[in-house]
Amino acid sequence: MKIGILSDIHANREALEATLADMSGAGVERVVCLGDVVGYNTDPSPCIALLRAAGAVCVAGNHDRAVTRQIPTDGFSVRAIRAIAWTRKRLPPEDVAWLSALPLKTSVGDQLVAVHGALHVDRGCELVRLNSEDRLRRTAQALLAHPSGARVCAYGHTHRLGIHEYRNGELWEHDPDSEVALRGGSCYLLNPGTVGEPRTEERRASWMLFDTGRRTVSVRRVAYDDRAAFEKTRRAGIEPRRLLAIPAPVRAALQGGLRRMGIYEMVRRVINS
Ligand SMILES: [Fe+2]
Repeated sequence: MKIGILSDIHANREALEATLADMSGAGVERVVCLGDVVGYNTDPSPCIALLRAAGAVCVAGNHDRAVTRQIPTDGFSVRAIRAIAWTRKRLPPEDVAWLSALPLKTSVGDQLVAVHGALHVDRGCELVRLNSEDRLRRTAQALLAHPSGARVCAYGHTHRLGIHEYRNGELWEHDPDSEVALRGGSCYLLNPGTVGEPRTEERRASWMLFDTGRRTVSVRRVAYDDRAAFEKTRRAGIEPRRLLAIPAPVRAALQGGLRRMGIYEMVRRVINS
């Protein structure tokens, strides 16, 4: 079976449409969404409709649970809270019900376990970022003990692509730009990056193709009209006005530089406040 794994759509319809079209072209038979369907952008309902039409298996992300008031917005950025408030006012009850019913963790047979944040955490797993070796190890160990027997865990939340292999207590990171052949006896942690809310110079949507028959994983990147999505968020008042004058490529390069200096989050909070 060909499984298409995507995450962090964040109400970006243009990005999701392009991604689903690419999945269809690649012969994907099962779409797995790792949450954060809503937030930041302005098309939550069309994105939910697209996922439902695709028959996607979906788990809840922190933005989904904040919009439905299942968790508070403590710790969210000002921009995220603004988008959540905007979304709450516009989301019809049937979409709120669909988001509210999403599980925090799920599995696709014995092939794949899906979670938004981290598998090793029970309460608040949608909020934990797998951005350290220690946390990646803990989730790999939770995967080894998972009752599904799956040896692949897909997660999102960080918006950063990643393919990690855990074997005999050792953790390796694979180059996401090369197809990875899965080895028996190893388990794998896959982060497909983000469909609709890029935070690096790479503006294209990304997703992962997991071919359970060939036992391979590969990353796909999809160009879309990100200017259209950005314009809609600007008109909705979600995008901070102070960033509007900076062209998108320059903004992305600045963000990359600040990340390398380790001060991106601090600067982002100041700008968004
Ligand atoms: Fe997200």
